[in-house]
Amino acid sequence: MCGIVGYIGHREAYPIIVKGLQRLEYRGYDSAGVAIFDGEKINLAKTKGKVEDLKKKAESTISLKGNLGIGHTRWATHGVPNDINSHPHYSNSGDLVIIHNGIIENYESVKKELTKRGYTFESDTDTEVLINLIEEVQKTEGVKLGQAVQIALNEVVGAYAIAVFDKKKPDEIVVAKLGSPLAIGVGDNEFFIASDASPFIEFTNNAVYLEDEEMAIIRLGKEIKLRKIKNDAVAYPNILELKMNLEEIEKGGYDHFMLKEIYEQPRAILDTYRGRLRASQGLIKMAGIDQNLEKFMNANRIIIVACGTSWHAGLVAEYIFEDLARIPVEVEYASEFRYRNPVITDKDILIAISQSGETADTLAAIKLAKEKGAFVFGVCNVVGSSIARETDAGAYTHAGPEIGVASTKAFTTQITVLTLLALKLAKEKGVFSESRFHEFLTELETIPAKVEKVLESNALIEIIADVYKDSTNCLYLGRGYNFPVALEGALKLKEISYIHAEGYPAAEMKHGPIALIDDQMPVFVIATKKGHYEKVVSNIQEIKSRKGKIIAIVTEGDTQVTELADHVVEVPETLESLSPLLNTIPLQLLSYHIAVMRGCNVDQPRNLAKSVTVE
Ligand code: AGP
Repeated sequence: MCGIVGYIGHREAYPIIVKGLQRLEYRGYDSAGVAIFDGEKINLAKTKGKVEDLKKKAESTISLKGNLGIGHTRWATHGVPNDINSHPHYSNSGDLVIIHNGIIENYESVKKELTKRGYTFESDTDTEVLINLIEEVQKTEGVKLGQAVQIALNEVVGAYAIAVFDKKKPDEIVVAKLGSPLAIGVGDNEFFIASDASPFIEFTNNAVYLEDEEMAIIRLGKEIKLRKIKNDAVAYPNILELKMNLEEIEKGGYDHFMLKEIYEQPRAILDTYRGRLRASQGLIKMAGIDQNLEKFMNANRIIIVACGTSWHAGLVAEYIFEDLARIPVEVEYASEFRYRNPVITDKDILIAISQSGETADTLAAIKLAKEKGAFVFGVCNVVGSSIARETDAGAYTHAGPEIGVASTKAFTTQITVLTLLALKLAKEKGVFSESRFHEFLTELETIPAKVEKVLESNALIEIIADVYKDSTNCLYLGRGYNFPVALEGALKLKEISYIHAEGYPAAEMKHGPIALIDDQMPVFVIATKKGHYEKVVSNIQEIKSRKGKIIAIVTEGDTQVTELADHVVEVPETLESLSPLLNTIPLQLLSYHIAVMRGCNVDQPRNLAKSVTVE
């Protein structure tokens, strides 16, 4: 998830672009760049770091004059954050320049073909491959930029919002969209291009939002020419009058980044599948595993280290790896592991999970394991982060930047990556038959839509939150795969509403915590159909008989628990091992609404930091 900005008109483009990039920094902030056409040549400056660093570099190295320009603030997916991999990217001739937000999945095969035709590549990015493909089409087909972009886009697979211009035709910018957002600000003989309206809302509130598979040729003094990428059908720009203020736009119209990130989970899971999950071909492709399969196949055990929410994702992974891939797993708090003088051998695999990739305890645990000869695999959300660089191999979650301190979409995408990993190993180890493997891959593909369905219960969840917002203590119960989800639900409530909450394996209640139950104690219970349903029902009856209040997450159409519980939230049915991806969502929303109703600072809760870089 990057931020893109473009301008063509009568004003100086540079100040508009740089200010716009600063407004889009919540979308990605590991590198930035700008390209301005000064009437003769394209002046480009780009750098690792924040937009502030770009300003310093651009204002001291290039001419900033010009009424045509594009800019980009990056959230790396392909190629670590550095000067070379940051955008914009030139074509080999230097005539074309591009910015891109998204992922081109088949860039490696396109790169191979272009290399055969003599193209060279400076960066590791998919984007530089795309701009050279556009140039190749322009040359070989002898077509204009707009057509070349269209033909090239029909040869690639993936997600994109792009803006491209050709210095030979400086009165025109070509943009296109599939999966990533793109808005065009329509001014008086000037046009603004951006990932959302925040870069141009102070100049115009007339905007055209491109739909998926649409492209636009934006020419000064002319109408916007809108086309369908697939079949060149003409589309008519629907100019909307925006009524949102800046803060609202940055949060995408949500009141808080946390709520926005909860609602981004269907897309985040889809993006984490992108280029990896091919259910129709019965395939899971993950470079980090494919290149190290032998190590995983011959490993004695997997040790998972992490902190906080990432540790809860590790606990879910323990159930997945042991149940599906039959590999023994131990899950460790990184802060304890690093000082426990643990027994580790070169036959062990260590998986380190971290959203930020900067958590000090997890980094130290990695270093310790490497010293003792273990192979270390990282699951991170930040490309090029310390943990990503320290590990021997890894897989990125593609959740995009997570701004809210309380982790939400990182948790579900971590579970997604670990599930793909375990399924891949289960297949390779022959634990899974073809048909069972296919059943899992097909069900995985339904998860984003099922998460959408769960999000439709938001209004009901808000009503339930209102009932329990003044609680002083809460308990969360789950069994099997959903025990870690109970822990995660309790952590979310603790960290943003400051209500004391504990998660427990439901059967553990009888060994102590049941003493806490009275009519003042809300008990959130994950009671979905698959797994240990009947046992959870009897745990609920134990609590009911002590007047505890039951708020249950149940499978659509449930009757038994629904009769027992004070409140229920229904979720679609899925496989038990995939149920944490759905059951977590209502608990995220519950804690969010309770925290808002208690007037807490949801995105920046007291005493907490998004990344704990000290021990
Ligand atoms: C979770 O909501 C918290 N922000 C915190 O527990 C977090 O999960 C923990 O600090 C680990 O962070 P990491 O995933 O970036 O390593």
